[in-house]
Amino acid sequence: MSATRLEVVLSPAEFAALRERDLSQTVCVVFDILRASTSMITALGNGAEAIIPVGEISEALAIRKNRPEVLLAGEREGLRIRGDLTGGVEFDFGNSPREFVAEKVHGRTIVMTTTNGTRALRACAGAQTVLVSSFLNLRATYMWITEHRPANVILVCSGTFDEPALEDILAAGAICERIWPLYAGGHMSDSAEVARRIYPLLQYDLLGAMKHSRNGRRLLANPDLRSDVWFSVQRETVSFIAEMDWDGTVRKRTATWTAAVPAPPAP
Ligand code: MLT
Repeated sequence: MSATRLEVVLSPAEFAALRERDLSQTVCVVFDILRASTSMITALGNGAEAIIPVGEISEALAIRKNRPEVLLAGEREGLRIRGDLTGGVEFDFGNSPREFVAEKVHGRTIVMTTTNGTRALRACAGAQTVLVSSFLNLRATYMWITEHRPANVILVCSGTFDEPALEDILAAGAICERIWPLYAGGHMSDSAEVARRIYPLLQYDLLGAMKHSRNGRRLLANPDLRSDVWFSVQRETVSFIAEMDWDGTVRKRTATWTAAVPAPPAP
């Protein structure tokens, strides 16, 4: 393959530039390990029909007004959005992946707004393909890339507030490690190199690594939310990819690949 590009967006500071780029020939893969992308994958795995990510609370409320059947999910400052931020509307879920159980989500469409994750997805809206990924479905994601071999891939780390997030960089690094042989002849950003080199250092203790992450520490300090951290670093619990369609809706796609995944390069 010629003229390939593999890049990693490390922080939300880069979202504005991403929105300005022509992404029509680019596949974007969005991670918000703690916790938005993990919650989306969990909800879809438990039978949710679709997720509609939006940047603002007002957008979520506007969709609910037109479509009263949708469920509302999301957080501000890590906590479920309550009536004081919405003029009285209580959100059905926060952003804990453990909340999205089959009994509550099966067959339902969920409108979600979170601090970074849903904004990252919206920043990729013009891309040829937008995938949502997490450690839960990492293999499915790199298998898809291996099968389709897109010329341009951007791995988008949603970050924490305005900063990079270690957990997102680790997930991006895990993907980089797997697909590196496919892109080695083309342009690889230094950010991709950084992610690929960090992942092997921490891959065997992702839970321990979360103590070095700002959002990890925040969640671990909250007795109600601390279990979200181990939940979010589980690997390969589901085997589907999740794709944001042209209409901005994230849906589950069943894997159809046949390609062999290249082995990661020797350390
Ligand atoms: C986000 O979108 O910024 C996060 O998912 C925040 C969180 O709920 O932990």
